[in-house]
Amino acid sequence: MLINLLRLLPPETAHDITIKLLKSNLVFKKNKKEEFRALTQTILGIDFPNPLGLAAGFDKNAEVIMPMLSYGFGFVEVGTITPQSQKGNQKPRVFRLLEDEGVINHLGFNNDGSEKVIENLKSFYKADKAGGIIGINLGKNKSTKNDIDDYLYSIEKLGIYGNYITINISSPNTPGLRDLQLRGRIETLVKKIQDKQNESKQLGNKPIFIKISPDLDDEQLRDIALMSLANNVNGLIISNSTIKRPSSLVSSYKNELGGLSGKPIFVDSTIILKKMYSLTNGQIPLIGVGGISNGYECYEKIKAGASLVQLYTSLIYQGPQIINKIIKELNGLILTDGFKNISEVIGKSS
Ligand SMILES: Cc1cc2nc3c(=O)[nH]c(=O)nc-3n(C[C@H](O)[C@H](O)[C@H](O)COP(=O)(O)O)c2cc1C
Repeated sequence: MLINLLRLLPPETAHDITIKLLKSNLVFKKNKKEEFRALTQTILGIDFPNPLGLAAGFDKNAEVIMPMLSYGFGFVEVGTITPQSQKGNQKPRVFRLLEDEGVINHLGFNNDGSEKVIENLKSFYKADKAGGIIGINLGKNKSTKNDIDDYLYSIEKLGIYGNYITINISSPNTPGLRDLQLRGRIETLVKKIQDKQNESKQLGNKPIFIKISPDLDDEQLRDIALMSLANNVNGLIISNSTIKRPSSLVSSYKNELGGLSGKPIFVDSTIILKKMYSLTNGQIPLIGVGGISNGYECYEKIKAGASLVQLYTSLIYQGPQIINKIIKELNGLILTDGFKNISEVIGKSS
């Protein structure tokens, strides 16, 4: 199988080849998508065919939206995109923790920059007659002095191309970025973004999600919850990768620098999700991400309070078949438990 061959290559080489193959249409056939009525939802005015999305970091430059939607994802989040292109950190910077089914990366927002990504998004819209839900994940350039200006710039440039925008302030690989999550700084950021939105008709109603780290303590979580409620933040994504290293890790790469993702972060990222659901009284849509590799884990995230979910790392280990498998499993679990629609499940275990 192709995935086994790719596994023999260094992780970043395997990823680059995957993107090239997906772009070339050599490996992917356009599937007729199955419809699961129990999985459809309207969140913040967007009609999601199912709640499973592709997390940011796989399609950093918006090159393979169509194939990923065709594999069955209900939505695709592209990025992280910075205003200017940048190379990111020195290689090697992605490590497979095979025994743990995890990944550590310190890529550092390598991406082609906003101008090039806009070209790619325009090509997607030209080709995709059926539409598809796209999130645009934004970050700041490493060398930027005024962080907030980078977000405002990109919202203005790229915002109109997405169904929603994600403000990524939780990547562990850009020095200082996560400080934007601190009390005061995050509120200033949110207010400036809202001012920017209010200046523009097209951006006015565009939902904004803030993506947070799983490494925040209880006080920081409470601050973000209160700030989000007070300022009508549209949604939160919980969570990015962690700088913590659970004692259960066995892979020899476990002490590499960067953010850990995949199976080893499922439990902690779900605990944080559950806390945030209760801190926000279930009033703010949450996207649950971190370690999902099957339908049951997807169901757990939704029961913990997620309206939508995303994954990335399990794709590396199981390939794209995992997408439809998870969706079918999730549909089965919901119906077996006697629910008619996924919206009835959100927060059930909180
Ligand atoms: C190689 C790699 C690159 C990533 N790049 C980004 C990124 O650019 N922006 C972002 O918000 N998250 C990024 N992430 C984090 C994922 O979007 C996700 O939040 C995290 O990996 C947890 O989900 P998972 O366990 O399903 O992978 C990246 C993750 C990986 C593994």
